[in-house]
Amino acid sequence: MSKKVLVLPGDGIGPEIMTEAERVLRFVDSKFGLNLTIDQGLVGGAAIDAEGTALPQRTFDLAKASDAILLGAVGGPKWDNLPPADRPEKGGLLKIRSELDLFGNLRPAILYPQLADASSLKPEVVSGLDILIVRELTGGIYFGQPRGIRALENGEREGFNTYVYKESEIKRIGRQAFEAARKRGGRLCSVDKANVLEVTMLWREVMIELGKEYPDVELSHMYVDNAAMQLVRAPKQFDVIVTGNMFGDILSDAAAMLTGSIGMLPSASLDINGRGMYEPCHGSAPDIAGQGKANPLATILSVAMMLRYSLAEGGAADVIEKAVEVVLDQGYRTGDIFSEGCQLVSTSEMGDAVLAALQA
Ligand code: NAI
Ligand code: MG
Repeated sequence: MSKKVLVLPGDGIGPEIMTEAERVLRFVDSKFGLNLTIDQGLVGGAAIDAEGTALPQRTFDLAKASDAILLGAVGGPKWDNLPPADRPEKGGLLKIRSELDLFGNLRPAILYPQLADASSLKPEVVSGLDILIVRELTGGIYFGQPRGIRALENGEREGFNTYVYKESEIKRIGRQAFEAARKRGGRLCSVDKANVLEVTMLWREVMIELGKEYPDVELSHMYVDNAAMQLVRAPKQFDVIVTGNMFGDILSDAAAMLTGSIGMLPSASLDINGRGMYEPCHGSAPDIAGQGKANPLATILSVAMMLRYSLAEGGAADVIEKAVEVVLDQGYRTGDIFSEGCQLVSTSEMGDAVLAALQA
């Protein structure tokens, strides 16, 4: 049966980067005979302008019916005066994530050797870095109840949140992480604070139990404070890291910045069946929108992740990732990753270069 992909360009640089990513997607679709059905929809500010809502019913129906969603970025100053719930981010993007129960956030941090200068760390520490952080996205302390700020009897205020994970929630994110490790280097590090927090004592127990189903994956455990140290000391020791929502929020941003280049980082958010939404980690970059300056590679690399994790086409994914390396080897750079001696190119020229590499 033909697999369905929904393309949502969004706002700002979204349409520009998506044009290039869609060319790449259509190219591999025909080259590998994937027989994909590719639809387009409106989301975010573009949808607000056209239809008065950040997530039109048609888009939502298409999203529910698709195997994978490819999203550019949403938001921008034009819509910042709307009530938060109606804005592009909350009313569009976050609504898709929560309605489709996309609890598994996969964030690779890859530093291409050609861009080793972009990192704030020494080239020998980060060059060739290729790790994946799997973050639980819909549970943990960010969602636990009760929560709030209350007045105590002595008049002092107290803020409180609840850190809670059910066994089933730990299991489903654990499975995604083990599956991802299987598709990569076969090593999984579960990050917790099991020396202090009961929730993560359970987390560790469940990961160990799950590990018995994945004897081919080497499971290790690390406390989150040590993981933060190790990420900046020797990040290449990791393959896949799995952790809860809050630890993952912090560690994935730290890991992303090891690479120093926001225009290169893809991401995935997956549900229990492997359906997912794929998007670059960056936003809609209103400061450079419409100028042909945006780097389309994070979105093109999101296409590769989509093929690997939701469409079972890892071979096509490898080919796209290889093509990205080729264009970096050839010295093509958009402004965000430019350095002396390289060739500065526009968004569409970068797309042309990737297509040429795919055709070669
Ligand atoms: P941003 O990621 O859009 O931009 C940060 C900086 O990085 C800017 O200087 C921008 O020009 C640059 N940049 C980002 N992507 C780039 C690319 N592909 N190529 C070259 N340079 C790039 O973050 P910012 O400025 O905080 O947010 C702008 C808007 O995007 C806001 O409305 C925000 O709410 C929204 N946003 C949307 C996200 C999403 O759709 N997933 C995620 C983050 C922000
Ligand atoms: Mg964050």
